Amino acid sequence: MAEEICIFTKESLVIKPPKRTPAMSRMIVFVIAMSCSLYICSVSLKQTKVSAKRKLVDIEFTHKSCHDDWVDRSQIPYLHYPKPATFSRAECACNPVRLFAILSMQRSGSGWFETLLNSHTNVSSHGEIFSNKDRRANISSISATLDRVYSLDWVTSASRNECSAAVGFKWMLNQGLMQHHEEIVEYFNSQGVSVIFLFRRNLLRRMVSVLANSYDRYAKLLNGTHKSHTHSYQEADTLSRYKPEINSSSLMLELKKMEGTAMKAMEFFNNTRHIVLYYEDLIKNRTKLADVQQFLGVPEMVLRSRQVKIHKGPLSEHIKNWDIISRTLSGTAYERFLGADY
Ligand SMILES: *[C@@H]1O[C@H](CO)[C@@H](O)[C@H](O)[C@H]1NC(C)=O
Ligand SMILES: *[C@@H]1O[C@H](CO)[C@@H](O)[C@H](O)[C@H]1NC(C)=O
Ligand SMILES: *[C@@H]1O[C@H](CO)[C@@H](O)[C@H](O)[C@H]1NC(C)=O
Ligand SMILES: *[C@@H]1O[C@H](CO)[C@@H](O)[C@H](O)[C@H]1NC(C)=O
Ligand SMILES: *[C@@H]1O[C@H](CO)[C@@H](O)[C@H](O)[C@H]1NC(C)=O
Ligand SMILES: *[C@@H]1O[C@H](CO)[C@@H](O)[C@H](O)[C@H]1NC(C)=O
Repeated sequence: MAEEICIFTKESLVIKPPKRTPAMSRMIVFVIAMSCSLYICSVSLKQTKVSAKRKLVDIEFTHKSCHDDWVDRSQIPYLHYPKPATFSRAECACNPVRLFAILSMQRSGSGWFETLLNSHTNVSSHGEIFSNKDRRANISSISATLDRVYSLDWVTSASRNECSAAVGFKWMLNQGLMQHHEEIVEYFNSQGVSVIFLFRRNLLRRMVSVLANSYDRYAKLLNGTHKSHTHSYQEADTLSRYKPEINSSSLMLELKKMEGTAMKAMEFFNNTRHIVLYYEDLIKNRTKLADVQQFLGVPEMVLRSRQVKIHKGPLSEHIKNWDIISRTLSGTAYERFLGADY
């Protein structure tokens, strides 16, 4: 291309009749020669830029290495090959690992959901690591904690080590997540962390669970020990015998607050890679668990939990002042919470 233009201008130089003074023509030749060489220069510069870029891509590719060829290219930002400081990934060093965080609220089934995930051979979900106040004191301790979890160096009973293909934990909205949302979204997006929202549709049932659980914190109904979750039907029965009384004058406001917080979280974290799950859907429709495994890029397995649901059956059996509560919600947007039974 550059050559063509140069030849063309040379020809036009030759063809042009020498009408101007020799000094003038020399000037013209000089200007044209200059612009020609500038052009050639810019073209070759462009070429070196391109090859530099290509080299960078090559390096990145061989660095990521292992065998990315078979994966969907759009997934590459979410595939990691961590090199933990505490152990070797051995024969699974070339299996990609996905990073995730379950964003949820207390008493929304996230404990149960985590036991399901952890029943998968390749999934490691470490629980509520930010219940510890020091770890969420500021964004630097949050980042340091996340780094340790995602490098596979966090040790809990949920650690799966060398053949983990998905690693994460659950993070309650009231554990620093909303205060530091901007920096956390930045961390998630730069490190390729996927978000699993887990909410409960029926916020009245969640409220019953919150009140009953906080009552048991001091009442300790199970022979003097407090339990938030149980594996026994007998214990579930004992725990559900306590019927909380719900404050009807603050009820509407409380429900609105809960709903607003969940909406806000979804807004804040909307531009992360995410999936939204509801506890009720997971209970009723086990194929939702296949969606989750697909989202996490792990081979599909049957997931199991030994946890037993505490509050079963109609809500009228679990609220002491049921008449007042049902009257308070009748005719409101939350009326649907009264009838749902599961
Ligand atoms: C962040 O919090 C941790 C734990 O409380 C503390 O040790 C550290 O000094 C804090 N860092 C900053 C920058 O405030
Ligand atoms: C899952 O774990 C098994 C054994 O622990 C391992 O053989 C397999 O390669 C792992 N799968 C993935 C996708 O990492
Ligand atoms: C409480 O303890 C008694 C006697 O040790 C036992 O029989 C009973 O099953 C226990 N109840 C629960 C709810 O664990
Ligand atoms: C119920 O809520 C109202 C309004 O928020 C509050 O003034 C009142 O103290 C609460 N009652 C109880 C028993 O907590
Ligand atoms: C998230 O973003 C999508 C597309 O930009 C938008 O349609 C959706 O309403 C947003 N959701 C929330 C909860 O902000
Ligand atoms: C169950 O979940 C799957 C996957 O999310 C969905 O396609 C299907 O329609 C659901 N079935 C019912 C009965 O809701």
